[in-house]
Amino acid sequence: MSNKPEILIARAIFPEAVARLEEHFVVESNQSDESWTQAQLVSKLRGKHGVLTTGGERIDEALLSACPDMKICANMAVGYNNFDLDAMTRHGVLGTNAPDVLTETTADFGFALLMATARRMTESEHYLRAGQWTRWGFDMFAGSDIHGSTLGIIGMGRIGQGIARRGAHGFDMRVIYHNRSRLEPRIEAECKASFVDKQTLLKEADHVVLVLPYSPASHHTIGAADLALMKRTATLINIARGGIVDDAALAAALKEGRIAGAGLDVFEGEPKVHPDLLALSNVVLTPHIASATLPTRRAMADLAADNLIGFLIRRAALTPLNPAAVASGR
Ligand code: DGY
Repeated sequence: MSNKPEILIARAIFPEAVARLEEHFVVESNQSDESWTQAQLVSKLRGKHGVLTTGGERIDEALLSACPDMKICANMAVGYNNFDLDAMTRHGVLGTNAPDVLTETTADFGFALLMATARRMTESEHYLRAGQWTRWGFDMFAGSDIHGSTLGIIGMGRIGQGIARRGAHGFDMRVIYHNRSRLEPRIEAECKASFVDKQTLLKEADHVVLVLPYSPASHHTIGAADLALMKRTATLINIARGGIVDDAALAAALKEGRIAGAGLDVFEGEPKVHPDLLALSNVVLTPHIASATLPTRRAMADLAADNLIGFLIRRAALTPLNPAAVASGR
């Protein structure tokens, strides 16, 4: 019998990361990437001391009560709305996430989605592929400008700041932002960004980018009333989380031309997508891939593995979310 700690890797990840974890732990790994129900996840986690999650697995009170040996859940994602952190702290289970390593990659993608939406790239590509392009037209797929326009960012953490820097320095955009708290003057100056209230941002921005974390407080940050404040020529980009936008209200606004377009990487109830969004051409849809470059996904897997090794072997995780869980001792 091994006295190594036992861990579960809940989804397929890089084989090198699995091999590294196997040096320290008895590992059960879902390398076939089967979809597990919550009950199957709980049953796999019984007797395990740690789990590597990828952001979709729900770690809640019921699961924690059924898995009393659990000590750490390491998310391979910066967002951690799949964790009930209060319950984890009560059960003495540490949560960790994967910040920083994905900041620039995700900011690149946010900006790419903004550009694709404003310049109607996927819509025009579908038209071309369908053989509909027969002649030049003076307003054919005319979109909106990015350079010199006003960029409004809601959620000005590290990724939001990355998008602001791209807009301000690369595209000469005026950058306004709204956040729970105002940034230090040094960071505002670096990003050339001015703090405004949410209503002002929605009224003045040509492109609104959402990069805030999901929580019950941020649920439907953008609903029908917020969309009504935006310019008819504006675009809305969501790379944050499904549920931050009321997708049904957004589909209605897009259908009626109340805003010009949207770029969405995340959806309420994903991987399902609201059928009204699927039917519209003025929306660019991508399957939650903002952090998906191989170097970044490797770095995210490595950080999650480092957190498991650091904590279960040396009692020191790199990016703890609820250090109080450890202080409470179990
Ligand atoms: C994150 O890290 O939270 C991303 O959404 C996952 O790609």
